[in-house]
Amino acid sequence: MMPIDNYLDDLFSFIDRSPTPFHTVAAGVALLRDRGFHRLRESDTWGELGPGGYVVTRNDSSLIAFSLTRRPQAGMALRMAGAHTDSPGLKVKPNPIQMRNGCGQLGVEVYGGALLAPWFDRNLSLAGRISWRVDDGPLQCSLIDCRRPLATIPSLAIHFDREANDKRSINKQTDLVPLWMLSEASSPPDFHDFLRRELSACHPEAAAATILGFDLFLYDTQPLCRLGVNGELITGSRLDNLVSCHALIGALTDTDHLRDRLVVLNDHEEVGSVSATGAQGPFLRTVLERLFPEPVDRRRVLAGSLFVSADNAHAVHPNFPGKHDQDHLPLLNHGPVIKVNANQRYATDGLTGALFRQCCTVAQVPCQQFVMRNDLACGSTIGPLTAAEIGVPTVDVGVPQLAMHSIRETMGHLDGWYLLRAMAAFFSAEDDRIRCPEINF
Ligand code: CO
Repeated sequence: MMPIDNYLDDLFSFIDRSPTPFHTVAAGVALLRDRGFHRLRESDTWGELGPGGYVVTRNDSSLIAFSLTRRPQAGMALRMAGAHTDSPGLKVKPNPIQMRNGCGQLGVEVYGGALLAPWFDRNLSLAGRISWRVDDGPLQCSLIDCRRPLATIPSLAIHFDREANDKRSINKQTDLVPLWMLSEASSPPDFHDFLRRELSACHPEAAAATILGFDLFLYDTQPLCRLGVNGELITGSRLDNLVSCHALIGALTDTDHLRDRLVVLNDHEEVGSVSATGAQGPFLRTVLERLFPEPVDRRRVLAGSLFVSADNAHAVHPNFPGKHDQDHLPLLNHGPVIKVNANQRYATDGLTGALFRQCCTVAQVPCQQFVMRNDLACGSTIGPLTAAEIGVPTVDVGVPQLAMHSIRETMGHLDGWYLLRAMAAFFSAEDDRIRCPEINF
């Protein structure tokens, strides 16, 4: 297992390369292929898969990777884990350019449950996927990442809103329109011209392209960094949930090939997971159906499997300790958090929680527990949805963090590394402690 400093360099570079779910999947596929995983396409026949690693994507924004020790068959137990590739943010509207008072602005939609106040006064760039073609040629799809600061959402000066520090509200349609150019022209510039220029940096033939569609997001150009007197904290964008994506891919590729295991990284968790690529869609189920076409065989495999759903958890905030149940206070740098909710907002139960605890014991990392206060609504994640879709025993876990869904989140520098080690133990350990016991009635 890599030492902590290498782990942090690797994490920072992974998140830096992953401003959107498309880039996360591209980075994941590149890592997996480097480690010898074969690319499968859903549109192909897969034939009979033998031992080895495989990766399949859907819509370029969700990914399933699995590693088999032998031909898929009943009697196998899959060690499975999942996380989500998306983060709340601002997505560019189809006709985005607005001109007002010499300012060119970019219309955006709010994606997911973003904490909006931190988006003001940031150096924002653009990244995403563009669909284009040249003349009558075939449709092409390319990722772009502009990387340089291109836009900002300036705050309103306090002189125009003396109550800004007491009761500020943010109108998503009118207050949150990024400024991205100054221009005296009366007609708005062509956004597609800008996209053609960006595309042609990597694809010279795209200088004459027709832009047919795009999925573009704004993101903060400030890189991740360590801070704190002893460097014990990390701040950056999309820690929820790229820290988990990174740990799952790292654990899948770093461990030996003694176990049959599978990782799913779903898009659209932040908007409810109901989509072709989301955890409440059929992606995982259809891949399992192709691996184990016989329903009874598939059921036998799932009955012996375990799914670890990894998504960040809420550490107790030093300024707001009253927001937590006082007997369940996840602390930064105290290890992965097992999340429990009696009403199945998290899928964990006493048994699946115990199995994850065993993984932490084998990996020699600490772990802790979270339950939401009864008088606050509990969030949810892909765990319960995956459990309901395929009927697999599931545990919800995640690294503790602060400022969840801010454009700049905070966590401890050790917790992702702890999660990676726990997941590596889960994926590799030839250990009777990580096995569902049978209860004799
Ligand atoms: Co999350």
